[in-house]
Amino acid sequence: MIDPATVERIKNTADIYEVVSDYVQLIRRGANYVGLCPFHNERTPSFSVNRQKNFCYCFSCKKGGSPVNFIMEKEGLSYPEALRHLARRYGIEVVETRLTDEQRAQRDNREAMYLANEWAMQKMEEDLTATDEGRDIGLQYFTQRGVTDEARKAFRLGYALDKSDALTEAAVRKGFDIALFKKLGLVGTSQHGRDYDRFRGRVIFPIHNRIGKVVAFGGRDLKGGMAKYINSPESDIYRKSHELYGIYQARAAIESENRCFLVEGYMDVIGMWQSGMKNVVASSGTALTEGQIELIKRITPNITLIYDGDQAGIKASLRGMDMLLAAGMNVKLLLLPDGDDPDSFARKHTPEEFREYVAAHETDIISFKARVMLGEGQADPQKRIETINSVAYSIAHIPDDVSRDVYVQVCSKILDIPEQTIANAVARARIEVEKKKEPNNGDRFRH
Ligand code: CTP
Ligand code: MN
Repeated sequence: MIDPATVERIKNTADIYEVVSDYVQLIRRGANYVGLCPFHNERTPSFSVNRQKNFCYCFSCKKGGSPVNFIMEKEGLSYPEALRHLARRYGIEVVETRLTDEQRAQRDNREAMYLANEWAMQKMEEDLTATDEGRDIGLQYFTQRGVTDEARKAFRLGYALDKSDALTEAAVRKGFDIALFKKLGLVGTSQHGRDYDRFRGRVIFPIHNRIGKVVAFGGRDLKGGMAKYINSPESDIYRKSHELYGIYQARAAIESENRCFLVEGYMDVIGMWQSGMKNVVASSGTALTEGQIELIKRITPNITLIYDGDQAGIKASLRGMDMLLAAGMNVKLLLLPDGDDPDSFARKHTPEEFREYVAAHETDIISFKARVMLGEGQADPQKRIETINSVAYSIAHIPDDVSRDVYVQVCSKILDIPEQTIANAVARARIEVEKKKEPNNGDRFRH
C-alpha cells in the first residue's frame, strides 16, 4: 500500500495542466485552457482544464476530474496504479506502508471469500448440467424460459441441488472453512442450530462485480414457495448499493455503445442480452443508489431506464431521475407495453423488433415528466403550478448550465409557459438543490 503522506505529495504535486498536456494540445481561453477531448472524437474543443482547481472536464462526454482521475481514465489504471504513474512522472519516491496484521487479515479474509464464492459458483454451474436433478429441474426451467446456452454460460447460471447439505458437504470435503460460507450467506443455521444450504432447490444467478469477481448470488424459487428470490446478504465483499447485476458482462458493450440500459431483474438482463442489447444491467428490484450510478458513470454518461408502462413503472422511473440528473447523467426512458418486462417482451419479439421498439420509444426523461404531469390536469391552475415547479426542480439538478438552459427551452414549449417563468423557477430550485448537497463537493469523482 502507498503511504498516505506519499499520496498527499503526489496529489499536491501533480498539475492538471501539465498532466493533460502530455496528451492534449491545450490553448488558453479566459481563466481556463481548452483542447480536443482525449476521451471521445470531436472537432471542436469541449475539454476544459482549470488550473486553479486542478481539475479537467469534458462538457460533451462528461469525463474528467483530478489528475489522478484523468490518468486512471486515460491509461486504464486503477487508483493506486495511477498514483504510481504520476509519482514516476514527477520523480516522487513512493513510500510503501506495511500492512498491519489486522489489515493483512482483512485482505486475506476477503481473498478467501472470493475463492469460496468462485468455487460455489463453479459447483452450482456444473450441477446444472452434470447431474440428473440439475438437468431435469434447473436446466429444464431455463430452457422453458428461453435462455440460450450462450447466455447461460456467459452469466454462469447454475442450480443448487435440493438437499440441505449438498453444498456444505462438498465444501467441507474440499477443505473450506464453513464459517466462510456462513458469512457469505451460502450456508444458514436453523433455529435448532443445524446448518443448511440456503439456496437449495433454486436456480442460481451469480452476481459479479465490475472486474468479474463473484460477490453474491441470487437464487430463484422453482416451486411457488414463499420467497421468489433469495439473495446473498451484505458481506465484506458485497455492498449491495455498489453493485449492479450484469455489469461485468455488459461493460465492453456499454463502452462501445456509449449507453447503458437499466432494467429491474435478473431475467430482464438476460432477455435483453439475448436480443443483442448487451449493454444492460439490473438494479435487482430496488431504487438506484449513488454508488450504482457512479459505477455506470465511469463507463458512460448515457443511461436509458426501462420500465413497464403501467402506473407503477412511470412512478418508479420519475422517482430515481433527479439523482441521475444530479450526477450529470443524460437520462432517457423507455416504457414497455403495459404488463411487459424486458424479459417477457424479448420473448414475444424478434431482436430486430425489440431494437426498433427501443429506437422508436426512447424519450428524454425531463420532457417525459413534463408531458406526464401536464396530462394529469391541465385545466387546474394549482396543478399547473405544481407541474412547473416540479419540472423546474428536476432541471435544477443538472450540473451543466448549458444543458439546463436547453431543458428550460424544451419544457417551455411543452408546458406552454414563457421561458423566463421556468428559468426563474429553476433558479429558485437550484438554491434548494445546492443546499441539499453535502458541503464537500469539490472531489465528486470517486477513486
Ligand atoms: N428481487 C429480489 N428479491 C425478491 C424479489 C425481487 O432480489 N424477493 C429482485 C430480483 O433481482 C428480480 C427483480 O428484483 O429479478 C425484479 O423482481 P420481479 O419483477 O418480482 O421478478 P422478475 O425479475 O420478473 O422475475 P421472474 O421473471 O423470474 O418472475
Ligand atoms: Mn419477469
